[in-house]
Amino acid sequence: MTQLKHIRPAHAPAGPMEPLIPYVAMGDDLAIPRRIAAAVVAADGFQPRPVVDVGSFLGELLEAFLDQFPNARGQWTDASDNSQPIAEKRLGRFGDRVDYRVGCPGRDSADDTVPDNVDVLATSWVSSHRDVEGTKEFYLGASKRLAPGGWLVVMDHVGYADPAWEQRILHAREGFHVAFEGPPPHHDKHIPTRDDHLAAFASAGITDVAVVWESLGTALFIGRRSA
Ligand SMILES: C[S@@+](CC[C@H](N)C(=O)[O-])C[C@H]1O[C@@H](n2cnc3c(N)ncnc32)[C@H](O)[C@@H]1O
Repeated sequence: MTQLKHIRPAHAPAGPMEPLIPYVAMGDDLAIPRRIAAAVVAADGFQPRPVVDVGSFLGELLEAFLDQFPNARGQWTDASDNSQPIAEKRLGRFGDRVDYRVGCPGRDSADDTVPDNVDVLATSWVSSHRDVEGTKEFYLGASKRLAPGGWLVVMDHVGYADPAWEQRILHAREGFHVAFEGPPPHHDKHIPTRDDHLAAFASAGITDVAVVWESLGTALFIGRRSA
């Protein structure tokens, strides 16, 4: 384990110092932002019931929400059933709180896989497979599925408008994150930037939104539909 640096602020009294950042066992390097996502949604005392993770794959994002909200029901949803047995194992401890739904063969979030009136619609590493127009469509479709006051949680790669920054960030990722989470984008246009995502939230009618975590080209956006 890396030794944590003990930093003593100028005004601190003399004596033994506790590390400022306690060691946290991280299953992978995105476990923390997933937990942050659930904690932010919980911060106002909101208690979601239906929580849907779109493009769940192994179900880690859904898991963070089910841990945070013991009364929530989760829906694991993916376009293919390859990962369902692994997700079922991983989410097995939540018993019948989880439904599994395979659909969206066209990967367009259609196919009625997401029910209406969900309290939280969460997704990670799915939107970057869309170009800017596709991202807008995704947010619009997602916002229509939200209950009034419901939350849209999106974690994904974000591109940079300036190619020099894109390259710097890609280099700097080495040693902090894998180069690219998931397969490369299914398009050859630029990956939507942070501003593209914020504009897509706005065009879907969600203006109560913040970037709550960001690290080297990976960002976590959380927005709330008005009640
Ligand atoms: C790169 S993986 C991300 C997995 C997971 N969310 C994570 O953070 O590790 C993308 C997943 O989304 C699924 N997917 C893509 N488009 C989808 C859609 N419209 N509806 C449901 N699943 C979709 C794919 O089958 C794949 O399993």
